[in-house]
Amino acid sequence: MKEYAIAAIPADGIGPEVIGAGLRVLSALEQRLGDLRLRIETFDWGSAHYRRHGVMMPADGLDTLKRFDAIYFGAVGAPDIPDDVTLWGLRLRICQAFDQYANVRPTKILPGIASPLRGVRAEDLDWVIVRENSEGEYAGHGGRAHRGLPEEIATEVAIFTRAGVTRIMRYAFGIAQSRPRKLLTVVTKSNAQRYGLVMWDEIAAEVARDFPDVAWDRMLVDAMTVRMTLRPQSLDTIVATNLHADILSDLAGALAGSIGVAPTANIDPERRFPSMFEPIHGSAFDIAGKGIANPVASFWTAAQMLEHLGLPEAAARLMAAVTRVTGAGILTPDVGGTATTEQVTDAVIDAIRKANL
Ligand code: IPM
Ligand code: MG
Repeated sequence: MKEYAIAAIPADGIGPEVIGAGLRVLSALEQRLGDLRLRIETFDWGSAHYRRHGVMMPADGLDTLKRFDAIYFGAVGAPDIPDDVTLWGLRLRICQAFDQYANVRPTKILPGIASPLRGVRAEDLDWVIVRENSEGEYAGHGGRAHRGLPEEIATEVAIFTRAGVTRIMRYAFGIAQSRPRKLLTVVTKSNAQRYGLVMWDEIAAEVARDFPDVAWDRMLVDAMTVRMTLRPQSLDTIVATNLHADILSDLAGALAGSIGVAPTANIDPERRFPSMFEPIHGSAFDIAGKGIANPVASFWTAAQMLEHLGLPEAAARLMAAVTRVTGAGILTPDVGGTATTEQVTDAVIDAIRKANL
């Protein structure tokens, strides 16, 4: 039986609470299934590491991670350290170094969770957002000069490469093709941004020729927010640039009931490096240590991880247990319940243990 090596990086804020919950659930799944073996190693990297050592992770951190099959990540961000330091020092550093160029963000209204949209049924909102995760507005290309002077200048250059756009487009068309509706919406702002995003549209049309069974359309990102809100059932798979998809995925999470349930997978589709799985919500310092963080996003992203490792049955069982628990109304306060992180986790473990899922 193959054993999978998982690097857990709980990091900051509620990260340790939700990753701790996820690891308990994964261990229950291992016991229940018998043919699942995970070797988990936990790393204490993050803001506390930064305060002690001046860096978010050790210099050989990436080399260490390379040996793992997947990374299970909590959240980064601390009130006393600038956000760009914590993010670029750990999470974005891992995404970039391991060329995890496809960020996959499924959104669904889970049983027992209400959408803020009036009259929307669960089947009306079932999306996968594919976010370009290696370049675009997050390329880290830019600089500042004449600091502090009136003539100070700062540039933040969005980089779009033919190779980068083509590979994310192929990935998104592939996801759309694998889903029943075979429907892809390509999001840009190619009316105002007339170089990189016009190239997006052109490459989308080129790649579309290789996927004749996928229906696709184009949306400008501003109009997309309206369509997501007013006609959610008209969408299925969505592909957008790094920043546009960042924004749209927060909207998607809110429309599905809470950002607290939204998962994300940072994937290297070529499998040269480990991929990284995390909840979308951040470190949420306002509720850290209170025991009320919603662990559902970290369970869902664990299911994404199992799927990526080629264990779709284990993933399906985990999600069946999670939806049984949400459907029974065992929910944390962000989704209208009164349960604690621990109570939700115990209920999911219970469902894994006894259910014939
Ligand atoms: C996300 C987050 C991150 C992002 C932040 C924390 C840098 O908002 O995963 O959506 O923008 O990528
Ligand atoms: Mg975001």
